[in-house]
Amino acid sequence: MNLPDLKEARKRTNKEILVKTNDYIVKENLKELGLGKKYYIKTYGCQMNVHDSENIKAILEDMSFEETDKFEDADLILLNTCAIRENAHNKVFGFLGRVKHLKEKKPHIISGICGCMAQEENVVQKIKDKYKWVDIIFGTHNIYNLPNILFNSMTRKEQEIEVFSIEGDVLENLPVKRDSKYKAWVNIMYGCDKFCTYCIVPYTRGKQRSRMPAYIIEEVKKLMQDGYKEVTLLGQNVNAYGKDLNIDYKMGDLLRDVAKTGIPRIRFMTSHPWDFDDDMIKVISEYKNIMPYIHLPLQSGSDRILKLMGRRYTKDKYLKLYDKLKRSIPGVAITTDIIVGFPGETEEDFEDTLEVVRKCQYDSAFTFIFSPREGTPAALMNDDVTKEEKDKRLYRLNELVNEYANINNQKYLGKKVKVLIEGIGEKGNLFGYTETMKLVNVDGDKSYIGEIVDVQITDIKTWSLDGKIVK
Ligand code: 5AD
Ligand code: SF4
Repeated sequence: MNLPDLKEARKRTNKEILVKTNDYIVKENLKELGLGKKYYIKTYGCQMNVHDSENIKAILEDMSFEETDKFEDADLILLNTCAIRENAHNKVFGFLGRVKHLKEKKPHIISGICGCMAQEENVVQKIKDKYKWVDIIFGTHNIYNLPNILFNSMTRKEQEIEVFSIEGDVLENLPVKRDSKYKAWVNIMYGCDKFCTYCIVPYTRGKQRSRMPAYIIEEVKKLMQDGYKEVTLLGQNVNAYGKDLNIDYKMGDLLRDVAKTGIPRIRFMTSHPWDFDDDMIKVISEYKNIMPYIHLPLQSGSDRILKLMGRRYTKDKYLKLYDKLKRSIPGVAITTDIIVGFPGETEEDFEDTLEVVRKCQYDSAFTFIFSPREGTPAALMNDDVTKEEKDKRLYRLNELVNEYANINNQKYLGKKVKVLIEGIGEKGNLFGYTETMKLVNVDGDKSYIGEIVDVQITDIKTWSLDGKIVK
């Protein structure tokens, strides 16, 4: 049994990051462990988790398990969890109630928890104490060992817990079963060293570890051969890519090399304003296949709160970067993340945030109420803003954000845009995204799926655009 340890998870040493190319092995006797059995995996949280689930699915299929999207039919149920806010926790514990109910009827079911919550001491303790029927818990650094974890669980009676609280290495040989045939997630780095005071990620995902460029380029080339049209380069902090490698190669260099592969669409997320350098801006503006869409988390518009958050930029610095991006990258869409109700946030601080939103007029924003995460410095700060006040601020912020999102969308009316058609939506229409990440519902038949087509925008809805294909 390996239990999580937040103190260990916080440590950053000079230990060399190893690139491991053969850690993932399925022993011969485990290759048919899942024969005739079905798995169901439910994924919470960010794209990193979505992509981890794609790895987990492939691992399970290497062991002959078969995927089902019907939870009731599963022999193995895994919840790939998110720890970023309390409500993510609540959703998981809510779903566990359903799993328990099903297990009472079908006791042979194996149930498991993985992802960021598995890295949290308090969560694992709670599951050990009160959810004894959960069979396996494994952490974000333990995915490669899933075959053995499952085998142990199936052959022993007690809960199987394997959670390493380590800085982590880079594993290069995990298999992947991608959800889409046209869009792919490509990890370029793992972990985070920024330690923003509210954030649990540096504890759950380890230290910043960039993948070597050659592996990334090779993956993108392979995806192109397989017909993929779009890659999203993933990391908690992609702008800091390469800083931990002992070669002189940064995010601008990587973007340039990925762009040169010729893959039609390149996206990247998430950017921290701190490391956004001029070379990146230059490359984004030079290459047509790097999409003019940037997610640039603000978190707060108050210098005082930004300092308490440990964000290392000021409102002015953020606005200067924002202006530079808008000036240098024609038509760029910029979205953001904002937290309201951080400990000590006054009405004045909040007004500063609104002011930045008014200036930036974001295409859209993800807005959150501060949620204390155990083990982070902000959780120990005096959380003195009342629940009512937090709710009110979130409401006021959302009103403003929606106003600008709508203004930005209106600009698309009558315009011709390029859309990568991804599939058929609920109403039988095609859907896809513009270069600037706007969801578009398009009339047309399914022969267009997987193609980038010219679409004329005919109508603007609150959360999407409508359009028709033009030749
Ligand atoms: N409380 C509220 N929001 C948070 N985020 C990260 N940690 C917290 C927290 N403790 C938000 C940030 C981040 C996004 C992914 O989630 O805005 O950018
Ligand atoms: Fe969390 Fe800050 Fe790292 Fe983003 S940059 S993952 S908010 S610590």
